[in-house]
Amino acid sequence: MAESMKGLHRTHRCTEVVGLPFGEQVTVMGWVQKRRNLGSLIFIDLRDRSGLLQIVFDEERCGKESFEKAGNLRAEFVLAVTGTIEKRTAAVNENLKTGEIEVIASSLTVLSESEVPPFEITENSQTRDELRLKYRYLDLRRPDIQKNLILRSKVAQLMREFMSKEGFLEIETPMLCKSTPEGARDYLVPSRIHSGHFYALPQSPQLYKQLLMVSGYDRYFQIARCFRDEDLRADRQPEFTQADMELSFVDVDDVIDVNERLMQYVFREAIGVEIPLPMKRMSWQEAMDRFGSDKPDIRFGMELHDVSEVVKGCGFGVFTGALEAGGSVRAINAKGHGEMPRKKIDKLVEFAKGCGAKGLAYLAVNADGTYKSSFAKFMTPEELEALVKALDGEPGDLLLFAADKNKIVWNVLGALRLMIAEEDGLLDPNRYEFLWITDFPLLEWSDEEERFVAMHHPFTMPMEEDWERIDSDPGSVRAKAYDIVLNGTELGGGSVRIHQDHIQEKMLEVLGFTKERAHEQFGFLLEAFRYGVPPHAGLAYGLDRLIMHMVHASSIRDVIAFPKVKDASDLMTDAPGTVDEKQLEELGIQCVAPEE
Ligand code: AMO
Ligand code: AMP
Repeated sequence: MAESMKGLHRTHRCTEVVGLPFGEQVTVMGWVQKRRNLGSLIFIDLRDRSGLLQIVFDEERCGKESFEKAGNLRAEFVLAVTGTIEKRTAAVNENLKTGEIEVIASSLTVLSESEVPPFEITENSQTRDELRLKYRYLDLRRPDIQKNLILRSKVAQLMREFMSKEGFLEIETPMLCKSTPEGARDYLVPSRIHSGHFYALPQSPQLYKQLLMVSGYDRYFQIARCFRDEDLRADRQPEFTQADMELSFVDVDDVIDVNERLMQYVFREAIGVEIPLPMKRMSWQEAMDRFGSDKPDIRFGMELHDVSEVVKGCGFGVFTGALEAGGSVRAINAKGHGEMPRKKIDKLVEFAKGCGAKGLAYLAVNADGTYKSSFAKFMTPEELEALVKALDGEPGDLLLFAADKNKIVWNVLGALRLMIAEEDGLLDPNRYEFLWITDFPLLEWSDEEERFVAMHHPFTMPMEEDWERIDSDPGSVRAKAYDIVLNGTELGGGSVRIHQDHIQEKMLEVLGFTKERAHEQFGFLLEAFRYGVPPHAGLAYGLDRLIMHMVHASSIRDVIAFPKVKDASDLMTDAPGTVDEKQLEELGIQCVAPEE
């Protein structure tokens, strides 16, 4: 039967009793992890967010009533136990913080009973994700998830502390706003008062933080919730958290400097990892050429090689055809995979096709120096030798070639490189390789929309020395944009912003905005910029992704208390749900989609 607190006070969390003198009286409260009944003794493992503590009930010391109650305890009952700290009489449990001690109970209060939970609360649970998320409040009791969320809280605290010391002000920006231009689909909120009008939930605080710079706040920081209606992946959620900042009177190096020190501080204080500074930097072009990715994992090599020059004029139509169409031929050397069986190579080819390739050509260098290859018959021995040399091919190596438009070639080889490295165990989770990617292209051609779109967003400053080519060769103009990459993940990104009218106007024109549409969408920002705007720049981290790396989580869901699943629904609350007819009427909304 559930009892009340009756003047009981918790003196310690379960593992906080470590180090107290033996004989000291404590009162601990928590959940029953396990009960063992040895006749005259009953053992309980009590769990709270700090860990486990062994409680011993001995009828002589706790009395008949408590002993009887202890005999009826089951998993997940909530208890208050008063007793004394003693040295463990039985074997020491080295896996527990409290493994050398136990509490000899003098009294027991059952604060709450529990039904049999749908799954056992243990570390590294094998329970199906659907069940875990339906009962998320139970799942959240698991020590590994608790560890993640405790670290997350700590990191947020450390960031606030650091940013505050550096002169940043924490300022909140609205959730009900106008659409922000980060390029994903908006979540919309209908307005009751303005029928037919909608707020958008922020994809980021971008425009507001720029306005705060116009207002003179100088250095802004916020741990901000962002909403993006996009396809979910292992490191994406429809609502996620940014550690967001903006600074006035700065250029690229100033932003990088403060952020390098921020990361160093957070990694040192939160997980005791020392990040050497300065971090490496690489231009976008170099990253693509060497790693086929704008977020390269540099914990291992297996770099891309452009062999277009070598295969120019060779007899293999796949290669020469790609070159004639303006593409390239590039390759990676999967060292030591020369003996890969045909079946496995076929799997690589299928994987490449999944990344958009038309095929994947291969050449294995045999131990005796001969080749096994899908295209050797189209080439002369000299051509083959030149190819192998260009890739530093040695006996036992497997060379993999992609021929296509650059974008596809990069994508395919970049992904293959990662997949092979993962299989080879080259991705050491305890190494933290930070990298800044700089000099992004300002614009990106969209085949779908048949026009240029902003690679970062429309307020990103072009590089002065490239700006004169904005009409003649817009694709070649680089931006003052940067991403911070950690072990192959884009942790954060930002840019220096445009603060001159004429550049902003031109930029919007290039992006295909009519004056009217630009005015309608962010007229308020353009107008604000007429009243004295400081040069400014900023950056935002995906906080969830940062925590994922610090705790080595494979899913973003393991670092978010109440995450959503792939189809953006919440299995616990069943959101999104239907609403009352009356609510819709008030909003002037009629549903045309059939209800499921
Ligand atoms: P950007 O769009 O690059 O920049 O976002 C910044 C960082 O936010 C994280 N992120 C996500 N994390 C989880 N789920 C998602 N769906 C998701 N989308 C993005 C990434 C990313 O690097 N306003 C600009 C920043 C600026 O220019 O200052 C912005 O939002 O880690
Ligand atoms: P095919 O002439 O299409 O039979 O292709 C011969 C070999 O080239 C096969 O191993 C294909 O997988 C490979 N291949 C086909 N298209 C490409 C491509 N775009 N890039 C690299 N290899 C390719």
